[in-house]
Amino acid sequence: MFDVEKVREDFPILKRKIDGKPLVFLDSASTSQKPIQVINAIKEYYEMHNANPHRSLYKLCEEATELYENTRKKVAEFINAKHPEEIIFVRNTNEAMNLIAHSFALPKLHNPNEIILSVMEHHANIVPWQYVRDNNGASLKFIDIKKDGTLNLEQLNPNSNTKMVSLTNASNVLGTINPIKDIGKIAHENGSLFVVDGAQSVPHMPIDVQDIGCDFLAFSGHKMLAPMNIGVLYGRKELLEDMEPFMLGSDMIKEVTLEKATWNDVPWKFEAGTPNVEGAVGLSTAIDYLNDLGMDDVRKHEKEITAYALDKLSEIDGLKVYGPTAADMRGGVISFNLAGIHSHDLATILNDFGIAIRSGHHCCMPLMKRLGIPAAARASFYIYTTKYEIDALANALKRSKAVFSK
Ligand code: ALA
Repeated sequence: MFDVEKVREDFPILKRKIDGKPLVFLDSASTSQKPIQVINAIKEYYEMHNANPHRSLYKLCEEATELYENTRKKVAEFINAKHPEEIIFVRNTNEAMNLIAHSFALPKLHNPNEIILSVMEHHANIVPWQYVRDNNGASLKFIDIKKDGTLNLEQLNPNSNTKMVSLTNASNVLGTINPIKDIGKIAHENGSLFVVDGAQSVPHMPIDVQDIGCDFLAFSGHKMLAPMNIGVLYGRKELLEDMEPFMLGSDMIKEVTLEKATWNDVPWKFEAGTPNVEGAVGLSTAIDYLNDLGMDDVRKHEKEITAYALDKLSEIDGLKVYGPTAADMRGGVISFNLAGIHSHDLATILNDFGIAIRSGHHCCMPLMKRLGIPAAARASFYIYTTKYEIDALANALKRSKAVFSK
């Protein structure tokens, strides 16, 4: 049984006060807070097991290797990948997208090949593809959004030149959850690969890569209770085996002579340099924590909070919410503007109430342009978000309005 108060007890930071006011943390889409279990696991790693994995035969090295590789298995199970080797550790979603762009798209796509994206993408799922376009002649097509903030899928329309469709599972601004299984089917029917940006979905709902049928899935550990700088690229094994490495150097090689080098097997071929074992340990514990809660219940809780928040925010005159109006069509992210107040001013005032929200373009400048706004305020939720925090947000917004209308 999901008990938000019990969950909150595991997060030391939620007991913090901001200038005497209880912290109301509504910025989990940027990064999640970390439970004590994750913090302790990292501490224990450094107190007991720290060593550079894969490199030596002593006990600590064996332990560090085991911790690192066991996390790979755990991640594979979490997203139902067929093989642990399909899990590449990267720093974050952004790096994962760069890996696909550099190791797959740059060498393999050319004019007249096409990559389909959408206007709701995060810069992480736009800029690497612009680089590909500018360096190998492939073209980009952007699917638009409809009035309700959902994708206009009539524009998906891949053709025989479409080699890649890369879309977000859930928008970090609109909250929109895209029908990725259906989109993947359409992409594949036309011989295209399907890449999913799972940064805002994997932490929040059950994700099964075999059921979705995607070729690549990227996500970040720090948005799902783990530390920063540990992220995941899932890729189908055959594709990964056929790709060139992204970063070159140690551990990604099989043999090096002064003349040449040969590559290690997948997944290590893509993991140059000393890996982030601390991050992997944190991610492993984070996955245990989420599994204990149950991803269905995580989603259920967030849906309930989102519905409550949509309702509360709709009571505020002059407040415009972007994205779908129904909570079951969106993740736990609500972007909005309050008439006459810039989102940065709003975020600054809310901070005086101890409330943390994000403001600005949310790394989605093209979407801001499409919405005709320079910026937006955004409240985002997670397993520890409560209805009384939403009440605090709504009250603070009403007070902010009053301050600005004076
Ligand atoms: N991508 C993160 C966000 O949406 C940083 O805030």
